[in-house]
Amino acid sequence: MKPLGLGIIGYGGFGEFTAEAYAAMSQVRIVAITDVAPSRREEAARHFHAWAYADIDQLLADPDVDIVTIATPPWLHVPQALKAIHAGKHVFLEKPLATTLTDADALVSAAKVHGVQIQVDYVLRYVPLYTTLLALVRSKLLGEVTYIRLENTASNEALHPQHWFWDRSRSGGIFIEHGVHFFDLCNQLVESKPILVSGNAHTASGGRQDRVMSSVSYASGALAHFYHAFDRPAILEKTVLRVVMERGTATAYGWIPDRLDIEGSLASTDYPALTHLLQTELDIQTMPAPEGITGATAGQLVHTTLTRPDRTEDYANAIREGMTDLVRSIQEPGYTSEVTLQDAYESFRLAFLSQQSIEQGHSIKS
Ligand SMILES: NC(=O)c1ccc[n+]([C@@H]2O[C@H](COP(=O)([O-])OP(=O)(O)OC[C@H]3O[C@@H](n4cnc5c(N)ncnc54)[C@H](O)[C@@H]3O)[C@@H](O)[C@H]2O)c1
Repeated sequence: MKPLGLGIIGYGGFGEFTAEAYAAMSQVRIVAITDVAPSRREEAARHFHAWAYADIDQLLADPDVDIVTIATPPWLHVPQALKAIHAGKHVFLEKPLATTLTDADALVSAAKVHGVQIQVDYVLRYVPLYTTLLALVRSKLLGEVTYIRLENTASNEALHPQHWFWDRSRSGGIFIEHGVHFFDLCNQLVESKPILVSGNAHTASGGRQDRVMSSVSYASGALAHFYHAFDRPAILEKTVLRVVMERGTATAYGWIPDRLDIEGSLASTDYPALTHLLQTELDIQTMPAPEGITGATAGQLVHTTLTRPDRTEDYANAIREGMTDLVRSIQEPGYTSEVTLQDAYESFRLAFLSQQSIEQGHSIKS
């Protein structure tokens, strides 16, 4: 099948990374680029042998553009996506979906009216160790999810005080700009709706909210805690996602994880299913009943650790898989992408409510 034409809107740091990822795909071809910075769009156009357009209207008028990718700063996402939808183009939209609930509602309504596909780049859904984690949780081999804890401490070194990231009217704040990835992942892990959201923040000098946390109760009974801080040198960056289930725990290390530890206690008749799902050997330990605890029983504990050799490659592949999913939903009527617009909306909404809870100083019923 002929590759679909990509028009890139926004060729900054992430626009460049994603464009390199798309360039290695056979299903799409980069045909046009626009960025308000002339040097950026011209450099990109030369590199990809594509057209450089001075503005989005010119790019949308190009009949060779079938899909636009929007990698501009967050407050521009909805206005630009609406223009693209009105021009009949499909959209691969960088997160966040929007910065306000009103904008998010407008985008979802417009997509329905115009019958085009919109996919939000929730890249974590396609990252190998997270897809394994999702499969493990969905298998219920270790029972239902009872608790999720995310600790994400990130660098502020590239974020100078005037960067749009710190301006909540333009980025939406840390939960919306960044945390939305993990709200999305956890919504899928829990497979339930949030019912109560409670946010808190630390404000640094200059009014920058640099540390935020949100506690979420889900209708299933699962509880979740999300902490993000952009307050340290890059060499100290760490992300740990712990998913506690009724009969075990899985812990992923790294924002794009390169290690997943799994520990659990399950019926030995389920060992083959777990081995098959994880595609690895299990380390099985026989544990005596702990002394001094009435009713405590002996049992077997299963451990395993999965690792990945190259995070950057996993990241680029995940971007390509998201785009492949969008292409399939355009070309195969009835195909449902891994990330639906409804999922994207729900994850954005949870991020938005977490931020609202900070602003209002109280918990919010979802
Ligand atoms: N999915 C992911 O994993 C992931 C990772 C990083 C960033 N992102 C998202 O990508 C987006 C861009 O982030 P970034 O770090 O590349 O930002 P950036 O500031 O480096 O790049 C933004 C680019 O958009 C251009 N731009 C600004 N206004 C424009 C307009 N009106 N028309 C065309 N171009 C315009 C700027 O000149 C710049 O080149 C953000 O929404 C961010 O959240 C997603």
